[in-house]
Amino acid sequence: MTPPRALIIAVDGPAASGKGTIAARLARTYGLPHLDTGLLYRAVGVKVLGDGHALDDEAAAEAAAWSLVPAGLAEDERLTTGEAGEAASRVAGFASVRAALLELQQAFAAQPGGAVLDGRDIGTVIAPQAPAKLFITATPETRATRRWKQLTARGFDIALEDMLADIRVRDERDAGRGAAPMVQAEDAVLLDTTDLDIEAAFDAARRIVEAARVRHGL
Ligand code: DC
Repeated sequence: MTPPRALIIAVDGPAASGKGTIAARLARTYGLPHLDTGLLYRAVGVKVLGDGHALDDEAAAEAAAWSLVPAGLAEDERLTTGEAGEAASRVAGFASVRAALLELQQAFAAQPGGAVLDGRDIGTVIAPQAPAKLFITATPETRATRRWKQLTARGFDIALEDMLADIRVRDERDAGRGAAPMVQAEDAVLLDTTDLDIEAAFDAARRIVEAARVRHGL
């Protein structure tokens, strides 16, 4: 394999681990484009529901994935809800959906100079060649509390226990599926943010990327 010349940063981990915030800040720091790949699956799930299909309708999900237009997803408020996250996790289990979204993500990763992508399978499937790989995690309780604070601050009425139950179900589904399950890549560095605030977590993430840059001469 030829050595990587571009700074591709793969940020994987479970829901509400802090990976999205860390990925966005890494992108700003290194002047790289950033793709939150969870938005792609969220958009597919929301489209399936919006078109009146069931979430176990693989043909509908696959069609939604092929017709997906990635521009503007980051501004789409409908994709930020718990329901969208749950729908995303369901359609993400279909290998046909993952296949339909593969090329788009790989093209994003292959931009000259590099890119930051966050998701569940970036370091394992989308960009296994990435020179910098982070797997960001935190306890389910910490993640549920973070997500609950975000959602209640935005006016959503949800109980913390329900949030924790949702997180556990989602973890199990994302890690247990046959198609590209959420798993730490062998060469990814584990970053547990349970006891870290966002500043400390970002510092730690940056250190991991800097070490990777030195290792790869980037
Ligand atoms: O990161 P998120 O919460 O926006 O992701 C929503 C769901 O999408 C997540 O539960 C699993 C799925 N997903 C995936 O399977 N692969 C990715 N690369 C990103 C997200």
